[in-house]
This record gives sequence, structure tokens and C-alpha cells, in this order.
Amino acid sequence: MTGRKADIKARYLELCGLIEKYNRHYYTLDSPLVSDAEYDGLMRELLTIERKYPSLKREDSPTQRVGDDISPVFTKVLHDPPMLSLGNIFTREDLLEFDRRCAKSAGSEGPLLYSGELKFDGLAVEVVYRNGRMVQGSTRGNGAEGEDVTANLSTVRTLPLFLKGSGHPDYLSVRGEVFLTHDEFDRLNGEREREGEPPFANPRNAAAGSLRQLDSRVTERRNLDIVFYGVGRVSGIDIRDQEGFYRLMDEYGIPGSSYRVIGTVEEIQAFHAHWYEHRHELEFDIDGVVVKASDFAVREAMGATSKAPRWAAAWKFPSAEAVTLLESVEFSIGRTGVVTPVANLRPINIGGVMVKRATLHNFSEVKRLGVKTGDTVTVKRAGDVIPKITSVHQAQEGGGGIVAPERCPSCGTQLRQEDIFLRCVNRDCETVRVERLKFFVSKDGMDIEYFGPELINRLFAAGLVATAADIYGLTRENLLGLERMGEKLADKILESIGSRRRVPLSHFIKAMGIKNVGEHIARVIARKAKTLETLISMTMEDLKGIHEVGPQVAESVYGFFHDDPAMSDIARMRERGFSVSDEEGPSEESAFAGKTFVFTGTLAKRTRKECEKMVTDRGGRAAGSVSAKTDFVVAGESAGSKLKKAQELGIAVLSEDEFIEMTGEG
Ligand code: IVH
Repeated sequence: MTGRKADIKARYLELCGLIEKYNRHYYTLDSPLVSDAEYDGLMRELLTIERKYPSLKREDSPTQRVGDDISPVFTKVLHDPPMLSLGNIFTREDLLEFDRRCAKSAGSEGPLLYSGELKFDGLAVEVVYRNGRMVQGSTRGNGAEGEDVTANLSTVRTLPLFLKGSGHPDYLSVRGEVFLTHDEFDRLNGEREREGEPPFANPRNAAAGSLRQLDSRVTERRNLDIVFYGVGRVSGIDIRDQEGFYRLMDEYGIPGSSYRVIGTVEEIQAFHAHWYEHRHELEFDIDGVVVKASDFAVREAMGATSKAPRWAAAWKFPSAEAVTLLESVEFSIGRTGVVTPVANLRPINIGGVMVKRATLHNFSEVKRLGVKTGDTVTVKRAGDVIPKITSVHQAQEGGGGIVAPERCPSCGTQLRQEDIFLRCVNRDCETVRVERLKFFVSKDGMDIEYFGPELINRLFAAGLVATAADIYGLTRENLLGLERMGEKLADKILESIGSRRRVPLSHFIKAMGIKNVGEHIARVIARKAKTLETLISMTMEDLKGIHEVGPQVAESVYGFFHDDPAMSDIARMRERGFSVSDEEGPSEESAFAGKTFVFTGTLAKRTRKECEKMVTDRGGRAAGSVSAKTDFVVAGESAGSKLKKAQELGIAVLSEDEFIEMTGEG
């Protein structure tokens, strides 16, 4: 064997080992070690080696297996036929090739139609119905053999245990995906954090973890959802195409995936582009689209490889991830004094945006990732959030360890460890003060227009603004004294400050940036206290007595209003014409207070956003999905599964008009 070939063999074995390890963490332990993109990259590298050097290929190669080992805890279930995976389309050329192959099999038999579907990012399952009754539910496992999770699956509320209609087949197995909506995922992780349990990394892992519980009561509380997109085996019924399959699902009351009948490659491309752009509007995660030849006769003719059917393909979305070099680390200090390690990266384009920095969150995260300077790391950018490092792609031998500083990099005060955070507790620390001011003027704070972080930096450096009260004392001359400040802009800034001279109590509480107090809690507290004077005079016990206010929140609010510097700054703000108006709006007895609303279907008179605001303005909450915790569902035109779920759960359903009447804005 030549040296080069020996290298390739070594790399091949290394890849097999890595992928096996990642599979085990992903499938069996429900805690992935690497990103999907990274996993796909390794798998592709392995496939390339196998294609080039077939002699190296091992029988037990990860490319020959669908999923991974099965946890020994659950009984095994054989899948007949096996639950296959899907081949991938990466480029337009792949798509054209896929289309050519399907067209060849279809021959001259009528037009070739595809079903365009969403690729749900959940957990594949199979459910068996005998004579209309659900008798078994299982996970995909390795494709041939899965785990029996019948008890757990039957707690999924949208899964029918008995089929609707009549004339049911003796045997019907359907395949689909179990998933968690974003709302449920957030709720679950919030609960876990409060209970000191580690949060799930993403909805898919949360769904997998929830389905593989030993106690079905736990699964039941997780409010899983399910959708079906294929048939395994059916006796005595002739399904001709994918549309026929979905019609049957409808007839039986089984939740089918939404789909679109597509005739051309261009339409498939448009379908993919549409969902890539609009994926965030869905209440659940999708990671691409699936294209399937619709006609079952064409499917039959095309058949499958050992891994995937030839008549279907997954076209995943480009990942907002990339690999780059971690050049150095610096420590940033936030308005609460928390020191955050921030990575300086070799600039890299991720989804059209140049990324130079990424957060490492905290030092436990640095430890968890095992990251060092000089390493090549995977960076993820999702939506508007700050890019973050999700894993080490390749460690650098002898790379520089990232050591937590002992003293504040800004003021030199000894840092204090609080939970997983390292904090500078010097309230006069210059950086902390500047950060507090930046928050005060920002959208989340007082929302003073034209007043950005850069202006704070300049005013602070010029000695014109040191605390929030100074902002209310700024004069036109002060502003015009700054470089690059025109008269027009100065007037706009002053006008904007003026418009924030009187704000309701809830707005004031929120803008003070009190630890543990966000917009919702600020409103809850303001509704109870009504006036600033009452709030200031409240005891710890009074605060703790407010519904939704826990001991931690009570402590930080109490601490804030009994802190000399904070109070004297508030007094100075008031001297400069600042005032807090009493909190108006509904009392706790309002029909909305503490109630959860879900809007579904097409609303005719207001947008969904407006309606949700009407709810939150009145002390209620707006959620995206229906659960046992929902109080009202407002159903517009062509409301679907959420309305059905509300009816099943016996939740009050309002029409749009009834809702508007309830708000008194009719
Ligand atoms: S059809 C034989 N349709 O993607 C064809 N799969 O990467 C089997 N998936 O194992 C799958 N949404 O868990 C199909 N609309 C959809 C899907 C879908 C998500 C999952 C499924 C499958 C995996 C393949």
C-alpha cells in the first residue's frame, strides 16, 4: 500500500469512528455532539472515499445504515417494509437528474406529477392500525428495527386512537414525524431551567427525548405533535398517488402533512425558495423540502436502493453555518456586569453576511466545547441573533487555552462567580455604567429615537452623560459641541428625549434594566403597584405576593428601589422634568389578565399581530399553539388543526367579532 493510500485508509477509519460516535449521541442519547452541517460534511467525505476506493469500504460502514443502534430499554419492532431514508438534492443539477430519472420511469404514462412537501425536523415514527384501531407505534430506529413506543405515542393528542369513517383496512401502517412546536419547546425549556435541568438543544432533540420516556405521563405533559406523510403497508385498499394517500388520511382523521402538487422543475425550485424564505413563519422547524413522484405506479417502477427510495428526494435548506479559525478571545462586559467571552474569528461569509465575532456565552460553555484559540470552529448564525460557536471542528495542537480572567478587564475589580456567570460587582465600573446607559436609551429600554450606543460613547467620553438623569439635562449646546453633530439631528434627539419625559410605570420599570425583570414582569408589577410611590414602598413580602413574581425577581426589584445611587438618580431625573404616570389598564380582575389566547385561521378585521397586542396590552398572553394551558382560541376563516384541538380539549372558542367585543374596541 502506498503511503498516500495508507493515509486515506486511516482517514476512512477515523471518519467511520467519528460518525458512529455522533450517531450514538444523536439517535440513542438524544444529545448531538456536532451540527447537522458538520455531520453531513463528514458523511459526504466518507461517501467520496468509498466511491473512489471501493476496496476500503467496510460492510458495517455508517453509509450502509439508516439510523443507529436501538436503546435496549424498549421492545423492538420490525418495520415491514423497512423505513428508508431520503437521498439528498444539493444543486439544480441534482434536481434535473432526479427529474430525468422519474420522467424515464413514467414514460408516456400521462403527466409526471410531484408532491412537494415540508421536511419536518422531528423524529420519524410508524403507527399501525388494525381494523381502525391503533395497535402499535414505533420509532424508526435503524430503519429495519425500531423501538416500541406505543404507550408514549398514544398520549399525542392529535394522533387518533380510532379512525374516523368506516370500512377500515385490516392492516394499515402509516409513517410520519413527531415534533414539538416552538411554543412548546420554549415552555419546556423554561420549565427545565427553573428546575435546574439542562435545556434541550433544539425542538427535535426535545421531541426525541420526550418520546423515549419510560413514563408515558412525562410524554403526555410534553404536548408533542404529529404529522403523517407516507404509507408503510395497507391491506385491501388501492392508493394510486400521494393525493389519494392524503385524501385517505383526511377520511380517517389522521393528520396529514400539507403538500403541493407540482409539475415542473421550476416549480420545485420555487417551492424550495418559498419555504426557505418563509420557514420562520411556521410554528415548527423544517430543515428543507421533500419532493416525491406522486404516482404509486411510478414509485413501484423506480424502486429503492438499500438506503432510500429512488422516487423521492430531500432538498435541504442551506445551513447558516460555516467553519472558520478562532483567532483570539476577548472579554466583553454587559450592563449587569457579566463578563462574556467573545471570539474574534477569521472573517467568514455565512448566508450572505460577513461574520467576524461570535459569542461563547460563558466559561462553562467554553469548557463544554473544549475550545481553544487556534482551533477551527463551527459558527452558526440564526436569524438576527448574535453568531455563536457551536462546536470545535478541528482542534489545534497546542492551541491557546481560554482562561477566565480573575479581575474585571475594565476596572480591575476581583470578579465574582454567580452560577455559571462571572460578574463584575463594582457598580461604578465604567464599562458597566456605559452599558447601562446604552440599554436605557435602546428599544428595550426607554426607546429614545436617534440615541444609539455610539452617541452614548461620545457623550460619556465628553463627560456630558454619566447617569440616566444626565440625559434629561442635555442641552442643544451640549449636543452641538460634539463632532459631526448637525442642528437637525440635535433637534431630533432633543425632541425624542422630550417625548420620553413622561412614561407609564411599566415602561419605567422595564427601562431601568433591573436584573430578572423583562417586559412582561414589569407590566405585572406595574399593574399591581399602579404608582411609583406604592412600588417604592412595597416590602419583599408585598412583591412576592404578586402573581408570577418569584423570590428572585422580588429580591432584585426590592434591591433596586432600596439602593441609594439608583434612588438618587431617579430623584435627579424627576428634578429635570421626568415623571412616571400611574399605570392604567386592566386590573388583575380583567377578563384578559393571566389568560392565554391562541389565534388561528385568517382574521378579517385585524392582523394577528394587532390582536396579539390587544391581548398583551390587557395583561394576557398570546401563544402560537393550543395546549391544555390555553384559555381561549380565536378562530378566523378556514381555521384548521388548532381549532380542532381546542374543541377536543374543550377550550373556549371565540369568533373574531366576539374577541373584539371582549376587548371593548369594537
Ligand atoms: S418521506 C421513503 N416526507 O426525513 C421516504 N420524509 O431524511 C420516507 N421527513 O426519515 C420519508 N418530512 O423522518 C418524508 N414530508 C416528508 C418528511 C420526511 C420529514 C424525514 C423522515 C425521513 C427523513 C429522511
